[in-house]
Amino acid sequence: MRVLVTGGAGYIGSVVVEELLAAGHLVTVLDNMSKGHADAVPPGVDLVRADLHEQELVEQLLRAAQIEAVVHMAADSLVGESVTAPGKYYRNNLVAGLRLLDAMLVTGVERLVFSSTAAVYGEPAQQPIDETAATRPTNPYGETKLAFEHALAWYERAHGLRYASLRYFNAAGASRRAGEDHDPETHLIPLVLQAAAGRVPHVTIFGDDYPTPDGTCVRDYIHVVDLARAHVLALSALAEGSRIYNLGCGGVGYSVRQVVDAAREVTGAPIPVQFGPRRAGDPAILVASSDRIRQELGWQPLQGELGAIVESAWTWLRAHPHGYAH
Ligand code: UFG
Repeated sequence: MRVLVTGGAGYIGSVVVEELLAAGHLVTVLDNMSKGHADAVPPGVDLVRADLHEQELVEQLLRAAQIEAVVHMAADSLVGESVTAPGKYYRNNLVAGLRLLDAMLVTGVERLVFSSTAAVYGEPAQQPIDETAATRPTNPYGETKLAFEHALAWYERAHGLRYASLRYFNAAGASRRAGEDHDPETHLIPLVLQAAAGRVPHVTIFGDDYPTPDGTCVRDYIHVVDLARAHVLALSALAEGSRIYNLGCGGVGYSVRQVVDAAREVTGAPIPVQFGPRRAGDPAILVASSDRIRQELGWQPLQGELGAIVESAWTWLRAHPHGYAH
């Protein structure tokens, strides 16, 4: 299929592009480059620098490239920022997304795979979380992703759009050529590895008094390549109708302390740790049940071990000590 990937120059987007290419799809990337890196886009793939707010331009692109399906990954995704700047999240995650849907409608593109998030659930009482859990976001990031999911359902009903909404848990790790390079970096695994490389003096653990086995937050880390493979499967499955899937590795998840320990083992570095207060809005535990996508699409994580995830991120960091800058 000819596929447009919005946000395809970003961390997860660039790996999704790699997996789509490997599966034989023809890919065009649209990215406003607010966070993306041109070098993250695989060679030979057209990178169109444009913003989804420019609906006419998006329509022209959909027509010119004869796009048959869209993987929509362009978004702002920092929970903390969303609380202090909600308007940005409503504009970029919801309004821009609606412009994309309207451009698809006008040009007859009827298939969409959407990057959603575990943040749509808020803080559910029951773990692991399956797709039938109540959606009660606790921040504008999760709220805007959920609002867009709701819009997808109504566009399906009104206009026959077919969509797959993929609710990511904690994406981590790297492919051979693409890795995590955020500015500012807020995610645990890259920060821990920066401490291992001596680029930051220590890691601050946000809270050690959570009701978890070791007092630190538990998360469900999923290798970015496993996550990307799910997009390829979801795209093919759209022929049989719309769907919503959680994407995590499941099990019991890993605590912040366990992540630091895994990184010490992989890197051989001491990785100094300090304890700080809880970060606002952090749920104690977020672990996915991904049974639905396992059963319906036969997806399974191939690199679900925390050590393998951290190892791939460490390999990428050593090969790209300054990220994509060099
Ligand atoms: N953490 C620390 N110290 C740090 C950074 C993180 O202790 O310096 C902790 C956090 O408190 C959290 C865990 O490490 O408990 C993981 O934090 P990340 O920032 O790596 O990831 P989050 O779980 O906060 O966020 C991820 C995605 C979001 C998404 C969310 C869903 O990055 O986009 O999962 O809940 F919204």
